[in-house]
Amino acid sequence: MVKVLAQNGYTITATGRRTELLQSLQTECGTDKVRIATMDITDLDGSRDLLLQIIRDMQGIDLVVINAGVGETSTRWEKELHTINTNATGFAALANAAYYYFETQNGGKGHIVGISSVAGEVGSGKSPVYSATKAFISRYMQGLRFRNIQRKTNIAVTDVRPGFVDTPMTQKNKFYMPWMASSDRAVQQIYSDIKHRRSITYITRRWRLVSWLIALLPDRLLGKVI
Ligand SMILES: NC(=O)c1ccc[n+]([C@@H]2O[C@H](COP(=O)([O-])OP(=O)(O)OC[C@H]3O[C@@H](n4cnc5c(N)ncnc54)[C@H](OP(=O)(O)O)[C@@H]3O)[C@@H](O)[C@H]2O)c1
Repeated sequence: MVKVLAQNGYTITATGRRTELLQSLQTECGTDKVRIATMDITDLDGSRDLLLQIIRDMQGIDLVVINAGVGETSTRWEKELHTINTNATGFAALANAAYYYFETQNGGKGHIVGISSVAGEVGSGKSPVYSATKAFISRYMQGLRFRNIQRKTNIAVTDVRPGFVDTPMTQKNKFYMPWMASSDRAVQQIYSDIKHRRSITYITRRWRLVSWLIALLPDRLLGKVI
């Protein structure tokens, strides 16, 4: 995503915990296009402060993509808590800071993109905590869109709901994953959705059908497969 945004004229600050990976990304894209900052989203105050610092350093921003997430299938409590801290609490910490910045310091305009999942539409027997945290992200973003209506702000909020994308997260899964999209395809589609400031998008589009089906099927059937 960073590479595609850089190719399309954006100046980006990329964040994550693995500084060496960020450095190689920066070398590949060029220091004029990509800045980097080491951030652990589970450090709530630290990551909020860092986001504000990035905004100051870049003299303002107009897009925040909150992508950080872990896909944990273990139901050990420490793993579940880490998933909640990353996918839900960490997400909210940054979404809150970004929305506040756009509303109060950027003239009520901007764009927040959050990566939730089709998994957020139904409880998962394989990973109850993952589906719950992704539902949290989707509902949080829906709330922000409603807030826009109430406050007459122009802050786009895009809820990206991938099915399966070929990344290190899915490469470790042992179960069958239908309609796997390449990461290149996913990124191209997300980039198009960002440009069109879409509210909700499925990666790939056919997952919207699955979402309709999930809403129709009874729990006793869903519980056997999800
Ligand atoms: N792949 C799929 O099929 C799929 C489907 C639906 C939704 N998603 C969602 O898509 C997003 C990206 O996942 P992915 O598939 O690309 O998985 P991934 O390859 O495991 O990447 C996860 C990303 O999150 C970052 N991250 C994780 N914990 C972090 C933390 N505490 N602080 C800051 N950054 C952190 C990682 O960077 P560092 O390790 O360097 O921190 C990495 O860039 C996730 O939110 C995931 O839930 C993926």
